[in-house]
Amino acid sequence: MKYSDEFKDVLKNAKTVVVLTGAGVSKESGLDTFRDVGGFWGKYNPMELASPQGFLENPKLVLTWYSERKKKAKDATPNPGHIALAEMEILFDDFFLFTQNVDNLHKRAGSKNLYELHGNIFESKCFTCGEPYYEEYDVEKELPKCPFCGGLIRPNVVWFGESLQNYILDLAFEKSQNSDLFFTIGTSSEVYPAAQLPYLAKKQGAYVVEINPNNTSFTHLANIHFNEKSGEVLPEILEIIKKEKERL
Ligand code: OAD
Repeated sequence: MKYSDEFKDVLKNAKTVVVLTGAGVSKESGLDTFRDVGGFWGKYNPMELASPQGFLENPKLVLTWYSERKKKAKDATPNPGHIALAEMEILFDDFFLFTQNVDNLHKRAGSKNLYELHGNIFESKCFTCGEPYYEEYDVEKELPKCPFCGGLIRPNVVWFGESLQNYILDLAFEKSQNSDLFFTIGTSSEVYPAAQLPYLAKKQGAYVVEINPNNTSFTHLANIHFNEKSGEVLPEILEIIKKEKERL
C-alpha cells in the first residue's frame, strides 16, 4: 500500500513539521529546475550567472537572465503542490516552510510561515551597500544604480559564495533539529547549507519524507520516499492528514 498505517500515524501525531522545498516543487508550474536534464546548470555556467564575481564581470548578462526568470515566475501560477503545502500549514500546531526557491510561488499559494533561504527574485538591493531598491528597471535601457552610494543594483538572492541570512539559517537549523516530521521536496540535496537540514532532522529522530521523482544523495536515509511529482503526491497527503485529524 502506498500510504502505510505507520505513515498515517506519523501524519496524525506530528506536532512540529518542517518542510524544505527546492526547484522541483515549481516544475509543474512550468519553471525550470537547475540540475535536471534541460535545467539551468546544464545550459549555463552558475559562476557567470549566480556569483558576485560573475555579476561584476558582466552585470547586464546577469540582470537580463534574472529579468527573464522574473517574467516567467510572474506569469506562472502556483500548482497543486504549493497549494497543498499552504493548506497543510493550518493543520499542525507548528509548521515551518523553508524554501530554496526565489519564485514567490509559495507566498502566492498562501503559505504564511515561509522562509526564503535563497532570497526572492522580485526584490532588489544595492550590490555595494545592501540598501533595498524598490524602483522598476529595464536592463535593456540602463543598469540601475543605488540612489545612496551609486553601487550597482542586483537581485536580492543568495549567490554561490555568499552567506544565507543568519536569522533564517538559525531558525532552519533549530526547527529541523526539533521537528518530528520533516519533508524534503523537489530538491536535489546538493546545495549546502539547505541540504544539511534533512540530515539534522533525521539525526535527532524526525520521520523524514522525501518527495522526488528521482533519487538523491539523501534518499537512502529517508523513512519514506515518494518517487513522484510533488503536485500529485502532496494533495493526496493533505487529504490523509485531514482524515486522520478528524479521527483525533
Ligand atoms: P535542483 O535543480 O538541484 O533539483 C531539483 C530536484 O527536483 C531534482 O532532484 C528533481 O529530480 C526534482 N524534481 C523535478 N521535478 C519534480 C516534481 N515535479 N516534483 C518533485 N520533484 C521534482 O534544484 P534545487 O535542489 O532547488 O541556488 O537547487 C538548490 C539550489 O541550487 C537552488 O536554490 C539554486 C541552485 O543553484 C542558487 O541559485 C543560490
